[in-house]
Amino acid sequence: MQIHDILAVVEDEFNAVDRLIHEQLNSRVPLVEKIAEYIVSSGGKRIRPLLVVMVSKALQRCNDQAIKLATVIEFLHTATLLHDDVVDTSDLRRGNPTANAKWGNAPSVLVGDFLYSRSFQMMVQLRSIDVMEILSQATCIIAEGEVLQLTNVKNPDLTETQYMDVIHGKTAMLFEASTHAAASLAAADDALKTALQHYGKELGMAFQLMDDWLDYAGEAEALGKNVGDDLAEGKTTLPLIHAMQHCSPEENTLIRRAIRRGGLDDLSAVQAIIQRTGSLDYTVQAARACVERAKQQLQLLPDSEAKLALAALADMAVQRNH
Ligand code: IPE
Ligand code: IPE
Ligand code: MG
Ligand code: MG
Repeated sequence: MQIHDILAVVEDEFNAVDRLIHEQLNSRVPLVEKIAEYIVSSGGKRIRPLLVVMVSKALQRCNDQAIKLATVIEFLHTATLLHDDVVDTSDLRRGNPTANAKWGNAPSVLVGDFLYSRSFQMMVQLRSIDVMEILSQATCIIAEGEVLQLTNVKNPDLTETQYMDVIHGKTAMLFEASTHAAASLAAADDALKTALQHYGKELGMAFQLMDDWLDYAGEAEALGKNVGDDLAEGKTTLPLIHAMQHCSPEENTLIRRAIRRGGLDDLSAVQAIIQRTGSLDYTVQAARACVERAKQQLQLLPDSEAKLALAALADMAVQRNH
């Protein structure tokens, strides 16, 4: 299954999500609408809302509630992007200048807060305590993940276990919450809810592993983000952690210095080391293992097009170039 086959399974519902996203950006304050509309219209893969509608479809409950949940999730995601680009001082997102590059940090943070708040307004309309519990817990864990990452900026001693903890919080948690909340809204039984929750989690881990791989191995044009942002910010990601364990002492010193200093001066030297030590491949393998675990979770689902699409989506997480 290719992406257009996957999208065809939920085309109407997915378009309905897109309409609701734009509809819900309304604000009496023009700058809120302007910035929110800017980031929302600049594209984005919409993978999390796709997961919500696809899980709902697989459970034969892809109704207005599911569409609203998908919108809530995309708003939460967009809010984290606005904040993340401020924190990461990134200037390119979805192929366009970031909101912080265009309007500055303060409006980006505040409009991120607006999107968070609007998503909670919509979430309450779902009238589901379970969904509120899942999403309010998830947003706490996402925030903690970002702070945990911040406290480890320029720390070359971050271990692989600590790294996995960071990416679970900052990224996998929202994937996990997407599929878990969708299953809950569709009144799936407990075993299925748990399986779909884990499917989302593993997919989210794979997704961030590949994001960290793309930060070294990708092309800015396809990616719509700059390559090398992570090193520039002094982020110790899996390609660096693996490389430091498998390179020469001199190379190890170079990587540690590059992490401590940040900036892009050492990017090409570091890229050469992570390539030679097989650290890029190691990262892809780790992502593939997550995808396999994700797909195993789908066994409990009854056979359907949507089930096949969920498996194909998991595969796509490791095949992507943006
Ligand atoms: C970017 O997420 C942030 C990460 C968790 C890596 P996406 O890659 O889903 O971003 P968009 O929405 O498609 O731009
Ligand atoms: C994703 O981490 C963090 C979020 C949950 C927003 P990154 O900082 O790696 O994401 P990109 O690369 O900026 O999209
Ligand atoms: Mg970032
Ligand atoms: Mg990244």
